[in-house]
Amino acid sequence: MDLFDDFARRAAAYRGAVDNSRVYPGKDAISRLQRIREPLQDDPLDASVVLSTLDEFGSPATVRSAGGRYFGFVTGSSVPGAMLSQLMATVWDQNAALAIMSPVASLAEEVSAGWLLSLLGLPDGTATSFVTGATMANFTALAAARHYLSKNLGWDIPSKGMFGAPEIKVIVGDEVHVSLLKALSLLGFGRERVVRVPTDDQGRIIADGVADDEGPAIVCLQAGNVNSGASDPIGAISRRIKKENVWVHVDGAFGLWAAASPEKKHLVDGIELADSWATDAHKWLNVPYDSGLAFVRQRQALIESMSATAAYLPETSSREPMQYVPEMSRQARGIAVWGRIEVVGEKRIGGLDRQKLPPGATVCLVA
Ligand SMILES: Cc1ncc(COP(=O)(O)O)c(C=O)c1O
Repeated sequence: MDLFDDFARRAAAYRGAVDNSRVYPGKDAISRLQRIREPLQDDPLDASVVLSTLDEFGSPATVRSAGGRYFGFVTGSSVPGAMLSQLMATVWDQNAALAIMSPVASLAEEVSAGWLLSLLGLPDGTATSFVTGATMANFTALAAARHYLSKNLGWDIPSKGMFGAPEIKVIVGDEVHVSLLKALSLLGFGRERVVRVPTDDQGRIIADGVADDEGPAIVCLQAGNVNSGASDPIGAISRRIKKENVWVHVDGAFGLWAAASPEKKHLVDGIELADSWATDAHKWLNVPYDSGLAFVRQRQALIESMSATAAYLPETSSREPMQYVPEMSRQARGIAVWGRIEVVGEKRIGGLDRQKLPPGATVCLVA
């Protein structure tokens, strides 16, 4: 059988059974998985053997997070429109670093970036970065924040670094997600140096805990607490504290999608007032792993933080994907995002959250 036919048959069989198979693999499946722990053989193997080995021993040992019966963690599924778009991008093996390397990857990012701003109600002109997940989205947005505030204080972080840089206060809620602390530590802010503001019993920041006269400061708010689903009072805090030397960042790994739902957007009231936002396409948008998004209002600050130039790289006036993200060579993940939004259409976007669930299930996005 042709290799691609064999793949399609196996993939269809797996996905066809995913809703009715047990979610977590049994002990037998996990012990049989040891079969792939084999010494590297001397002679090459046919790709069809690799595929059948993976399917025979790997498929039964998967956690069926793509199915409607999986409710662990805050894990998305991957619906067909997104999954097939991603497979297409893999078939094409596109490098989404530069527009000249992949016009299709670059355009898919540009188009879906525009759609995303409109779906989420974020300000026109906001820059969008296609990264691996919310952790990297937080990192990317906070790098732009660090550069923007430092530059206004006369210090250029990309060239001079953090040693000797002017102090920037970083404020987080007591129930900040660990990934945001990780991003802050990677950026040289230090996990323990941040100022923690008390939260209520749902993990929401107590608004009065953030003073009117903070600055220069990065205030990190959250849309969607990982335990309760609750969001910080983003609008109330932003309206009061926003000024030139205060950058408001929102970690909305899953909660940001409430902004796309006419019935739920009141839960993230004022979200559009922030300066940057992080979210995951691989959570509520049900795009395959890995897929995160950073949005930064101050486009120039983002580009200056992420840009890299070399004699062999072309200087163009078009949108160069790698100038928006930490990586250079990278997967064309904007194509899956494009495919996903194209399939769902604008009118149905408020119903995105129901797509993974079995009929009759209750959706509880935010407590
Ligand atoms: C609020 C919040 N921020 C960040 C993350 C990290 O997301 P990722 O694992 O996609 O990097 C999560 C994951 O659940 C989250 O809930």
